[in-house]
Amino acid sequence: MPEFSKLVLTWFARHGRKDLPWQENKNPYRIWLSEIMLQQTQVVTVIPYYLRFISSFPNLNILSKASLDNVLEHWSGLGYYARARNLHKTSIYIKDHYDGHFPLDFDQLIDLPGIGRSTAGAILALSDNQVYPILDGNVKRVLARYHAVKGWPGKKKVEDQLWDIAKGHLPKINIANYTQAMMDLGATICTRSKPRCSSCPLKQTCLAHSLGEENLYPTKKKNTPKPHRVTYVILLRNEDKILMEKRPESGIWGGLYSLPELDNKDDLERWIKERADCYPSKVILKEDIRHVFSHYSLDIKPIEVRIPSSFSKVKLRAVESWVSKDSFDQLGLAAPIKRLIQSIK
Ligand code: ADE
Repeated sequence: MPEFSKLVLTWFARHGRKDLPWQENKNPYRIWLSEIMLQQTQVVTVIPYYLRFISSFPNLNILSKASLDNVLEHWSGLGYYARARNLHKTSIYIKDHYDGHFPLDFDQLIDLPGIGRSTAGAILALSDNQVYPILDGNVKRVLARYHAVKGWPGKKKVEDQLWDIAKGHLPKINIANYTQAMMDLGATICTRSKPRCSSCPLKQTCLAHSLGEENLYPTKKKNTPKPHRVTYVILLRNEDKILMEKRPESGIWGGLYSLPELDNKDDLERWIKERADCYPSKVILKEDIRHVFSHYSLDIKPIEVRIPSSFSKVKLRAVESWVSKDSFDQLGLAAPIKRLIQSIK
């Protein structure tokens, strides 16, 4: 066995994680779900979502029959909701095209929505011991440091180089443990800042470590500041009910329930006139919420508008509905909107 994978596997036997919920009963459905949840989210955050999801949708057949709203409700707070929409879509596709059997073939896997080369490799390696490399953020960091690979890994040329390296290190057997070990090494030892090199099984041959340059790898992207947006959200309240608006399927918080929004506070009076045609009994400007997305940051400025309890003239558009406070638990809500609603009296 090549030295690199041997060191990694020996380390895994003693220090790797072996009690994660998706490591019990490693069927492809459970591994697929965990890999999708873990794509942009850390293990500690994922665990409670994973357990709840798997208990409601224990297999692909049940997931494919669930409503998208129900799936999104289980995803609410985890972010990157396209993942949940793709998961649902893929479960239906597998049921229709593969008779409900999860395909364990690389080319078939990467054709499915939400599954790229690394996720396909992880599913095949972890659930079926097939010899495929993975290259998620953690593994990129380990390999970029080990070989002192220069250049930002988001660049095609650098990424291709890292894929070749990842492939070159694969052992022929024990690929499931090796794959898990590489993820664990990146998450627990070869961390972004302050890597714990003294505990690393690769320290003797790691090029960045021998140069004392762990912090230079992987090369960072040239800094371009994130754009910033402001939005006003309206909490229109009629007794214990709030006017909710379902967001379009594409874009941020796609398919989730949110609140009506205005770009400009000056439009509030016109909005109330058009939508409710009454004088509010109270208007309260609430504290701002800052939310950071991967490609921009958003300041959410909530405005609570209470309309008289006798009033019920709001003409609902197709995407709107009145939701009473005790029904919110059943809706897929964007996380900051959920927190806002929970905070109101
Ligand atoms: N990140 C992605 N996949 C993972 C896994 N199987 N275990 C821990 N972290 C991961």
